[in-house]
Amino acid sequence: MLATRRILLIIGGGIAAYKVLEVIRLLRGQGASVVPVLTRAGAQFVTPLSVAALAGSTLHQDLFDLTAEAEMGHIQLSRAADLVVVAPCTADLMAKMAGGHADDLATTLLMATDKRVLIAPAMNVRMWDHPATQRNLVMLAGDGVLVVGPDSGDMACGEHGPGRMAEPRAIVAAIDAALSAGPLAGRHVLVTSGPTHEPIDPVRYIANRSSGAQGTAIAAALRDLGARVSFVTGPASVSPPHGVQVIAVETAREMLDAVQDALPADAAVFCAAVADWRVANAAGRKMKKQDNALPVLEFAENPDILATVSALHQPQRPPLVVGFAAETHDVIAHAQAKRARKGCDWIVANDVSPDTGIMGGNENAVHLITAQGVENWPRLPKDQVARQLAERIAAHLGAVS
Ligand code: C5P
Repeated sequence: MLATRRILLIIGGGIAAYKVLEVIRLLRGQGASVVPVLTRAGAQFVTPLSVAALAGSTLHQDLFDLTAEAEMGHIQLSRAADLVVVAPCTADLMAKMAGGHADDLATTLLMATDKRVLIAPAMNVRMWDHPATQRNLVMLAGDGVLVVGPDSGDMACGEHGPGRMAEPRAIVAAIDAALSAGPLAGRHVLVTSGPTHEPIDPVRYIANRSSGAQGTAIAAALRDLGARVSFVTGPASVSPPHGVQVIAVETAREMLDAVQDALPADAAVFCAAVADWRVANAAGRKMKKQDNALPVLEFAENPDILATVSALHQPQRPPLVVGFAAETHDVIAHAQAKRARKGCDWIVANDVSPDTGIMGGNENAVHLITAQGVENWPRLPKDQVARQLAERIAAHLGAVS
């Protein structure tokens, strides 16, 4: 899987940097190309010459290297790769990544990339165990960052414990796994997520409370199985996942346009909480308070994106169209009726009545309604619901191809 793949390798400042020279050699030996980025601290441990010579590629070191900017900007550099690898990843680099810093070339590339990121942490055992590092690790994992190591053992600083960078062969194996074909490799899946905002005038809008959390988790789970994901999102409060194509929209009509532009797809999952109505008489200028008169808003119905896509003919209609249904009573009967009315293949239904604690919570208990019947899934964290759904989609596409 490594042949012809492009790895952007960021070398941080730690004694383990010398082991990264071996990582470069192993990657190139398997046919991958390596574009190295050496941080200022990294250059204290390995020389630019040895990195560039082993990589057989231009070494990038400085954000403000104007020649490099003229040839290839940092945005392009961060996106031309198939995977971004940070090794050794120091406590400081982890903190900067978790905090979203972009104050040198390495951190700017990490912020600008739309590709997956794999880190190989390396640091003193106490730094690794420090609550700040462990907090950052949790945040990075939540952002979809992959982690290899660290190993436990004797350290260059004389202490013993976890913190040694993973061995070069383990790093290369983790890179291979990150790039390997999952069951959805070569598949394109469209996901809608978040709320829509429907303008009343240029400064006011009608919205809903959707956070986009479930749609984001589903997009990440599909990506993890190797799918190319087009993620059409309204203004959500959670950030979109890395490694997916994000198409940001505001209104239902923009969402429909973006969905139509993203087709064809092998599957489409409609998680967005699309506003049913928009303001038909939205003002082009800010509405002013008037003495005795209240504004009167007229409503028009928004397009039903799920129903519109379900009614398309192949090849524009995805072979698998999945909708969502949030109900407060008679969940299954309403969801079955919705499946028929919208013309989609599956409905993921959940009970959002207040006593379930599902709305705004971290867990979800869903029923999967298909042509074959109803499956009741156990109550699970939302990211596990996402994983299970992604696996079902992969199994279905595998079975029908
Ligand atoms: O009709 P209702 O809003 O309950 O249906 C929910 C399902 O329909 C969700 O999958 C949602 O994303 C989708 N939907 C849509 N466009 C709309 C309304 C809902 O795609 N205008």
